[in-house]
Amino acid sequence: MSKSLKDDPLWYKKAVFYEVFSRGFYDSNNDGFGDLNGVTAKLDYLAWLGIDCIWLLPFYGSPMKDGGYDIADFENVDPSYGTEGDLIDLIDKAHSLGIRVISDLVMNHSSDQHPWFLESRSSKDNPKADWYIWRDDDSMYKGARIIFTDAENSNWAWDHVRQQYYWHRFYSHQPDLNYDNQEVKDAMLAAVKKWLDLGLDGFRLDAVPYLFQEENTNCENLPATHDFLKLLRKEIDSRYPNRVLLAEINQWPADLVDYFGNDDECHMCFHFPLMPRMFMAIRREQRLPITEILSLTPDIPNNSQWGLFLRNHDELTLEQVSDEERDYMFSEYAKDSRMKRHMGIARRLAPLVDNSRSIAELLYALLFSLPGSPILYYGDEIMMGDNIYLKDRDSVRTPMQWTPDRNGGFSLANFEQLYLPPLMDSVYGYPAVNVESQFKNPGSFLLWIKKLISVRSNYEVFGTGKIEVLHDDNPSVFAFVRFFENEMNPETQTENDSRIEVGRMEGEDPVSVNKVLCVYNLSRFPQPAELDLSKHKGAKLVELNGRVIFPMVTDGSYRLTLGPHGYYWFEISDQI
Ligand code: NOJ
Repeated sequence: MSKSLKDDPLWYKKAVFYEVFSRGFYDSNNDGFGDLNGVTAKLDYLAWLGIDCIWLLPFYGSPMKDGGYDIADFENVDPSYGTEGDLIDLIDKAHSLGIRVISDLVMNHSSDQHPWFLESRSSKDNPKADWYIWRDDDSMYKGARIIFTDAENSNWAWDHVRQQYYWHRFYSHQPDLNYDNQEVKDAMLAAVKKWLDLGLDGFRLDAVPYLFQEENTNCENLPATHDFLKLLRKEIDSRYPNRVLLAEINQWPADLVDYFGNDDECHMCFHFPLMPRMFMAIRREQRLPITEILSLTPDIPNNSQWGLFLRNHDELTLEQVSDEERDYMFSEYAKDSRMKRHMGIARRLAPLVDNSRSIAELLYALLFSLPGSPILYYGDEIMMGDNIYLKDRDSVRTPMQWTPDRNGGFSLANFEQLYLPPLMDSVYGYPAVNVESQFKNPGSFLLWIKKLISVRSNYEVFGTGKIEVLHDDNPSVFAFVRFFENEMNPETQTENDSRIEVGRMEGEDPVSVNKVLCVYNLSRFPQPAELDLSKHKGAKLVELNGRVIFPMVTDGSYRLTLGPHGYYWFEISDQI
């Protein structure tokens, strides 16, 4: 039974997202490049998996020197991806299956091939002369860090045509747009409206902390940037209901939360600092890296939501960790220096965890139960591998592995024509790891994650509830309760609050369960847990996967034994 789209302005708080790199997903016309029709062809698969929203990486006109994040035409689909009609078909079919569609909005910069830049560089007094940031020398904004440190040594690049320097925060072929120019803002807002008019459900906002510059600052998170994002939100809210802005802000929690504004800026922000700490916690076999960052994460406004992820199309970024932690992460997860890219590690989830099924399950269970909406990266649901011999972040962008057949079922083109070679090694190659085989195998990771998605989708408290971290003397045990506000004290409960969910059918609306207890063993050995559940005395615990009833909470302390990398999700039911 497929879902239907609900008129729910807070849908993104309960959603499971799935990131699609269209180029690598499915090639519908067998030219070697995945395309929008290819994504449409696989929507039934995504609906079957149970996800609620797909995030499409940029499909706009581009020379593709940075995976399409180098845009040469903000208002048209790149012909290699298909046509605008193909996009409309994709959105319509997705909506009919109850799936929303968002796409990247890259506002900070364009490609140096964009006609705006070509005009801007042509002279100092052309109509677009001021659309980019030009200076006679490279002395300004010295406080701004270089983001791609392994590829660029300055944020300024010399243009031999205009005989001036231009400003760029990423690759030098990606000049930053000048947001002090009203025409630039207007042009970007026009692109936003165009895509929303076609039916997109929102945007993943690329690289927004860097929109404005100011001397004697680090040129990040400036008030003018927040003002512009608030304006963008206002424009969208005024004409397009139920849309979402999911912001890429690679910053510390205190700066990150500013981007929610007062529920009037971005609806969602990726929780960048949490991500590497989940990997740290697993290797250290201790909860501290996670609990520490959670304690440093301020509360966010009611309608705002974190975007949680383990891996994406970029490197596992280590910008938001200390130098010591970065060294630790490199020594643990990038033993071969070819695995390092920019300030991070360009590997997929499965190889990062040495293909350990139990660690992958533990990490996903964490991802699906911590406050926020989980975002899966294509291929990680079958534990696809990576190819560290490919350049830049292509290592994690190889073709989706659908079948054990030629090119992994991604394309019928000749192997030589493919945009990147599919994996063919004996552990992660498509003959061993593919959707078709896992679909047939009841014990596969794919079917496990499908079940996880359905369990999470059935319990709204995972999406909208608060969190209380529980103390346990055992540092390898991480436990917390997710709860609806006012539910921690039984005396404040209303009659409606005690509904219990039993034997629900897939596709049915989630029923309210007020409190869920999550307990994790971060170590590779069995561990005892002794939890202080005194607030829940008299409650019974019902395990969410099998609905097995566990012993009642009789006194304050509750004992459990967890297997290696084991975890439990319990409903805390006050109904006896
Ligand atoms: C962030 C994107 O995720 C990354 O892939 C890209 O290289 C930079 N922004 C520059 O657009």
